[in-house]
Amino acid sequence: MKKSEKEKYLVTAALPYANGYLHIGHIAGAYLPSDIYVRYKRLIGDDVIFICGSDEYGTAIEMSAIKENVTPKEIIDRYHFSNKQAFEDLSIKFDIYSRTSNDIHTKTAQDFFLNLYNKGILTQKKEKQLYSEKEKRFLADRFVEGTCPKCGNEEARGDQCEDCGSNLSPLELINPRSKISGDTPVVKESTHYYIPLDKLQPEIEQWIKTKKNWKANVINYCNGWFKTGLKSRAITRDLDWGVKVPLENNEGKVIYVWFEAPIGYISATKELFIEKGNPDGWKDYWCSENSKLIHFIGKDNIIFHAIVFPAMLKVYGDFVLPDNVPANEFLNQEGNKLSKSKGHGVLVKDIVKDFPPDVVRYTLTSILPENKDSDFHWTDLQSKNNSELAGILGNFINRTVVFAKNKFDNKIPQRYETEKVDDEILNFIKSQKKVISDCYEKFRFKDALNETMNVARAANKYFNDCEPWNLIKSNPQRCETVINNCLQICHSLAILISPVLPTSADRILKILNKDKKDFVWNNAGEICLNHNDELGESEILFPQIDDKQIQAQINSTGMEEIQGDNLITIDDFSKVHLKVAKVIKCENVEKSKKLLKLQIKVGENEKQIVAGIAEYYKPEDLLGKLIVIVDNLKPTKLMGIKSEGMLLAAKKDKDLTLITVDKEINSGSLIN
Ligand code: MF3
Ligand code: ZN
Repeated sequence: MKKSEKEKYLVTAALPYANGYLHIGHIAGAYLPSDIYVRYKRLIGDDVIFICGSDEYGTAIEMSAIKENVTPKEIIDRYHFSNKQAFEDLSIKFDIYSRTSNDIHTKTAQDFFLNLYNKGILTQKKEKQLYSEKEKRFLADRFVEGTCPKCGNEEARGDQCEDCGSNLSPLELINPRSKISGDTPVVKESTHYYIPLDKLQPEIEQWIKTKKNWKANVINYCNGWFKTGLKSRAITRDLDWGVKVPLENNEGKVIYVWFEAPIGYISATKELFIEKGNPDGWKDYWCSENSKLIHFIGKDNIIFHAIVFPAMLKVYGDFVLPDNVPANEFLNQEGNKLSKSKGHGVLVKDIVKDFPPDVVRYTLTSILPENKDSDFHWTDLQSKNNSELAGILGNFINRTVVFAKNKFDNKIPQRYETEKVDDEILNFIKSQKKVISDCYEKFRFKDALNETMNVARAANKYFNDCEPWNLIKSNPQRCETVINNCLQICHSLAILISPVLPTSADRILKILNKDKKDFVWNNAGEICLNHNDELGESEILFPQIDDKQIQAQINSTGMEEIQGDNLITIDDFSKVHLKVAKVIKCENVEKSKKLLKLQIKVGENEKQIVAGIAEYYKPEDLLGKLIVIVDNLKPTKLMGIKSEGMLLAAKKDKDLTLITVDKEINSGSLIN
């Protein structure tokens, strides 16, 4: 392997399947952290390329095409272009967003396969497989479903049970059936190629042992697999949609998507350098001793990036192996797993319509699932925007430039002799610069953001302590120096925050009317703005987000906020006696349009309750109905009429429905 003069960084983000829209869970898993990292690395002057693209093969895509009765090409085009746009809308900026259906990828993947085949590394095995006579095809992986042998889930997929997480092979399924036609498959033999991970385990294990700076979660997963022992893995499939196996007599066989997709990182890099007019340039990153390969992924991809792909690269030879695999855990919403296959979650294409990219980036960065799963709440987005982005960062920039505009003719005032406090704040920024760098280098993005915001907090304190609004009268020269210093700090803040908030950083520069000449990490805490230079136009960087906007999101995504503070214990719940009651009499309440008076039976007891449902139900509708009531509510009077309980109803906008029971059951039954 050759060595280039300067260290290089080859950063990849997991190639998303072109089989669904990206949601914020994907973004928090791999794409935002990688984009932040790349932006940071470039600011410190490192040589980085940033690679991504669509993963366009695999049974899930073929399955979607069959379901929608369109070609796989239509599916991948739809999601490839939509997801490409979604990344752009969030300012996630790859050097290339390629796709695995490109010719260059077919060639690269086939070459890789042949290389291993010619070296005699791949083994061949005849295998029993499920085959549908009706569809005349083998039912690989997701084309078959059945009962999970481990947990009994009746809808386990051929490759995996989503309920218990077990990896399965189609043959292990009890009661298998075709996902397409429901046909019960037969068992038929087919020959497949394998990569002998079992034999490669000692080498891989040794190599991972040398990785002292990998995240604990990643190392733990790997050690788990080593403990159970790696198995030889089939790298071919009997499918139509995929990269064809480049050997004679292998019609109808394609390379397994998880073998071919990571090679997509290489193909995309080749494509990038062809575009640059330097077709061999990719080797400086893939085949050079001082190049560092860093894979950003979600935890479900760890085995492929920390074990399988490195094993492939190793046996091929000439390639660098990953320097790090900073995998994140999952971002959940209301504790539900955000899974593309289940189709829920906040989609990127939707959220970017309603909120600026930096607000989304800031919120997600502050809740990144770096070490454990985390939760997204709409109210977080609001409070992060209002009290942190607007309240701290935006506030400092705004009060500084507005002051300069009003008192110094929108020009940068003179920097007279500085005082201790002025130097202290700049020194603090310089020391924070190191702290923040350290966080980024260790892939601790949440901490990096928090330490960056500490600079903005300190800046506000400096402004408050100096009281420029008094100085302008008592000591105008001193006031000039303070505001000059504040403007320098604005420039520093733009630099420090730019990996997370690239658009806002650009806007700050525009407000300062400053070019990008000094926009490098090292200049944070330095004096870069000149006395007397004209400032730009001030603007509010982060407008407030009000309750209505957030409520609209909660409604449209069907997500109710469950905040820690609102949680109740089972004991709290059992204080409320919910019971089934039978309506035995019901009438309107005189002079009231809203109230009905009900006589109900709760077991042996008779009770009277008054309920505000007259606009939705006629008295006769309710007779004989089994309803749900709160039995132990303190009695009250409504329009002078006694009410000894409350009935339950669900209300949305102008609609209301009573809560009833699903089956005939004795009144008085306790609900819990
Ligand atoms: N498409 C896969 C996923 O979304 C990731 C593929 S990463 C690659 O989980 F390395 F294989 F490309
Ligand atoms: Zn299971």
